Amino acid sequence: VITAHAVSEVRAAIASARNDGARVGFVPTMGYLHEGHLSLLDLAKRRGADFVVTSVFVNPTQFGPGEDLATYPRDEKRDARLLAERGADLLFLPTARAIYPDGFATRVSVSGVSEPLEGERRPGHFDGVATVVLKLLNIVRPDIAVFGRKDAQQCAVVRRMAIDLDLPVELVFGDTVREQDGLAMSSRNAYLSAENRALAPRFHEALRAGAALLRAGSKSIDAIESAMCDYLARWNGLEVDYMKLVDPETFAAPADFDRELLLVGAVRIGSTRLIDNISIDRSPEGGRLAPA
Ligand code: PAF
Repeated sequence: VITAHAVSEVRAAIASARNDGARVGFVPTMGYLHEGHLSLLDLAKRRGADFVVTSVFVNPTQFGPGEDLATYPRDEKRDARLLAERGADLLFLPTARAIYPDGFATRVSVSGVSEPLEGERRPGHFDGVATVVLKLLNIVRPDIAVFGRKDAQQCAVVRRMAIDLDLPVELVFGDTVREQDGLAMSSRNAYLSAENRALAPRFHEALRAGAALLRAGSKSIDAIESAMCDYLARWNGLEVDYMKLVDPETFAAPADFDRELLLVGAVRIGSTRLIDNISIDRSPEGGRLAPA
């Protein structure tokens, strides 16, 4: 895998790949890679990318003041090794200066879908995400860009931005990869103590309890959300931030149950905040149940 730090190096490597007729795939990440990230690389290739670029950049503008920017896990050597083993072609490891040079003054803000849930609890987070994603897409100019569905609201924000700004890229969203006990893979799982790690699968189980009600035909948003919260209330040490049933495009309460719906949640276990979701499609043409 070629490693590039400067925007000019990335552009040169991609221009050369394009000269050879390559279709460029892009997987933006914040590093500390796990199987969830690596599966997105595989997905880019399955979707026809033959030159895959991965960026590793812990983007400061998407972290709020009391959040974990300083402690966010980092291991660039290990990331580079995993990417090489998985057949990535280019690793873009920019410095903060390369992304935000002196005088940087632009902010991309997607209204609506950015506002509830994660947006409300993490003010400015999605502006930081949208701004850096647009920048990275402009640097790499991929044919396809792949994002993980674990960050479902991020997927919706990026999709909205791509539609609104006519971004010339095909967006692909990859399914969440889970540990054997159901916990969604996340770089932040590294923060969990052994005791808290043992508690963490209860979060996904709560989402599954909501999914079971939905699949059984419930149309009561209240009943479904309460069932998920009640499930979690049985354990000490796990604090619910929110457990919601939403429309996967707007992240508002769904108006119609015969379409794809999303059960989304955020919990705190100790000082670690985890998010997860399950997608359920009850539309007649749907039936694509994301692995629960
Ligand atoms: O999902 C992430 O890791 C980040 O939000 C992203 C998309 C790389 C932007 O910094």
